[in-house]
Amino acid sequence: MHIPAPRLLSLLLLPPLAAGMLAAGALTTRAADQEQERFTISSISLTPAQASSDASPESLPFARPDRMERYQAWAEANPDWTAAQTVLWVNMDRDRPFYTDPDTVEQPDSLTVLVNKYHLLSADYVPELESVGAGYGSGSLRPQAADAFRAMADAARADGISLRSVSAYRSYDRQESIYRRYLSQDSQSSVDTYSARPGSSEHQTGLALDINVASLKAHFEDTPAYAWLVEHCAEFGFVLRYPQGKESITGYQFEPWHYRYVGREIAQVCMDQNLTLEEYFALQPTQSEPDQKTAAPTAEQPAPPKPDPDLPLI
Ligand code: DAL
Ligand code: ZN
Repeated sequence: MHIPAPRLLSLLLLPPLAAGMLAAGALTTRAADQEQERFTISSISLTPAQASSDASPESLPFARPDRMERYQAWAEANPDWTAAQTVLWVNMDRDRPFYTDPDTVEQPDSLTVLVNKYHLLSADYVPELESVGAGYGSGSLRPQAADAFRAMADAARADGISLRSVSAYRSYDRQESIYRRYLSQDSQSSVDTYSARPGSSEHQTGLALDINVASLKAHFEDTPAYAWLVEHCAEFGFVLRYPQGKESITGYQFEPWHYRYVGREIAQVCMDQNLTLEEYFALQPTQSEPDQKTAAPTAEQPAPPKPDPDLPLI
């Protein structure tokens, strides 16, 4: 799916203060809608009035009635933000510092579960897992993600690209020891930009993996494998989870190697429109949290898997 660049993107552009906080790619218009002067944010159409600086949160389809006071507080502190910008920001909880009042994800087995600095997995959550398999690197993933990764690696191989898992599922305890090790070497504010606190790592979902490298110094973004992944990962249901330019939303530095299985439909929207998962869910016309909304395939609880090799830490 290709959605052309918006003609009236400026209607929703952020004030200078917020530059870089929200990507312009989040705000798009559908060509077929242009003549009717309707604009699309993700799957949601906004009228010019809704997108304008005169709009109110109540006029927006993705506003959540239980967050009206938070929209108001943010708008008062940031009077140059439009209602659409404010509602999106608050829906992502970014009106509060990272790790403020985090909740525990209620449906961790959902393939679309959102795990981040506000939505944590419980320490004892272990998904159903299977090895990524010989020839595909190391580690284990949820079966759907493992299947998708193998299919993606096979397709890449046919194009002359090698994709190998270097870190996939990580238990809560494993993440805790990784995070603690970084803390012994670096300040917490710095560590928090590249390593997830235990419970907040997508690796614990069994739906995320690091491909080929897991190092800030590797410059994976300069490789043909990265270019291939950006072009094709959504076809297999994966998203680049921590993109460049979205650091203030995800809370993490650009990780060109970290991919998250979320299913093809959502992956295509996110990759085509340059949306993080946080933005995607914040733009949905719903009052419920994403992990509550999606019916979760129930996984049998397996025996705890063997830990990943001790190599990649991020
Ligand atoms: N490096 C990613 C953010 C993690 O620790 O899960
Ligand atoms: Zn990772």
